[in-house]
Amino acid sequence: MTEAVASYKLEKDNRKLDHIPGSFGLPVIGHTVSLVKDLYGTIDKQYQQFGPVSKFGLAGFKGVLLNGPDLYQQIYLDKDKNFSAEMGYAGSLGRFYRGALLLRDHEEHRFQRRMMQTAFKNDAMKGYIQTMAPMIKDAVESWDGQENFHFFPAIKQTLLDVAATIFVGLDKDDERAEKLNKAFLDIANGLMGLITKEIPGTLHYKGKKGERYLHEFFGELIQERRASEGADTFSYFAKEKTEDGEYFSDQDIVAHMSFLLFAAHDTTTSALSHLLFHLGQNPEWRQRLREEAAGIGKGFLDYEDLDRMPLADAAVKEALRLHPSVMMMQRRTIRDCELGGFHIPANTILFIAPQYVHRMAEYWDEPEKFDPDRWMEPRNEHKRHSFNFVGFGGGAHKCIGMHFALMQTKNFLHQFLLRYDFELPANFGTAMQTVPLPKPVDDLPMVLKRLNG
Ligand code: HEM
Repeated sequence: MTEAVASYKLEKDNRKLDHIPGSFGLPVIGHTVSLVKDLYGTIDKQYQQFGPVSKFGLAGFKGVLLNGPDLYQQIYLDKDKNFSAEMGYAGSLGRFYRGALLLRDHEEHRFQRRMMQTAFKNDAMKGYIQTMAPMIKDAVESWDGQENFHFFPAIKQTLLDVAATIFVGLDKDDERAEKLNKAFLDIANGLMGLITKEIPGTLHYKGKKGERYLHEFFGELIQERRASEGADTFSYFAKEKTEDGEYFSDQDIVAHMSFLLFAAHDTTTSALSHLLFHLGQNPEWRQRLREEAAGIGKGFLDYEDLDRMPLADAAVKEALRLHPSVMMMQRRTIRDCELGGFHIPANTILFIAPQYVHRMAEYWDEPEKFDPDRWMEPRNEHKRHSFNFVGFGGGAHKCIGMHFALMQTKNFLHQFLLRYDFELPANFGTAMQTVPLPKPVDDLPMVLKRLNG
């Protein structure tokens, strides 16, 4: 067995950043309140006043905010191994997801990422799509005739059910799925807790209980999954071997499974909710996507059909451009380095808020407009810079589940748009929230209109 090797360095974050323009904001909370109210406006103000590299405070952290595709490129590609994701996230995600893939760096990260790769290769994906498509169909059908239908909670539950089956290998009716979902949601809430000690009644306390439950749950099932014929993600992880022919350690598998649920779920829920928000306002795009889905000519998509849905691909990326599911990414400098002409000392926290670059007029025409055609020939606006779109991150930590997420989105659009047209209420809310996850504030109420029936 391999050893679990995650180990946080103990040096404190560097906060000596007087030589860098900017403002840390209010004591302790920094710019948190303003950012929660209006993320784009807050970053825009900072950028206009201080430029692409500025000091910035957020939720107890003091560091440097970076805005610009060249800066992103330097950080994501990290040619000189200057930046640590593990230390960047140690005080946030690291509270519950220590040892997860995103909390590993460089060689160790590469080694661990290999464990996951079989589970995201074509053969695995072909199996997932066979399981996923009928589950999504059933869920979408069950929405028919529901009064007071809200898209956000409906898609959230659907994706939780799909995750329990495809990632963990549980039947939909397995009562453990509900407990698993609860533990997972408790951790997600725990991440929002301001108190980070295990005091009964706090979000952190409940989150820690959830974390222990997940670890026990996955830990106890590893041997069973190794012996099984299962084609779920957990079974792939459990059976994967290192180049030396050893299984990965139980601790590694548990850490990766726990994080996978988190990384996959809210991100896709958020992306689909924003996409449906925009489709609700764009009947023309609903129709174009419906025609594309109808053109496949099948009740369920096969893996090979995914490439025949370029409009769906463009539409979901456009939703992620305007509303990235991961609103803030973090890194920490390992050693002194230079970013955008500024000296950045070792142990400095770096903040990346992709929404700003996603709306920069230098890289996107009419950036505020929902316009998926910008991703297609001949416009190809995403090719104006390799890092003007980082909705799935970039470099070594680029989202391992990107193709899975696009596959899930296409399956959803295929089932949903061929069954329904929909309307948003006349006075529908356009307000968006960013915390705890980006979504329309009012949960996206909609009226579903059954087609052909
Ligand atoms: C629309 C849906 C999704 C979005 C927008 C998204 C976004 C991202 C982003 C931005 C990162 C990089 C974070 C950073 O560099 O700090 C990331 C990493 C990751 N994502 Fe996704 N993700 C999505 C879906 C998924 C799914 C479905 C899975 C799994 C099935 C997944 C698993 C992961 C994992 C394991 C990492 C860490 C990769 C590493 O450190 O090497 N994600 N994701």
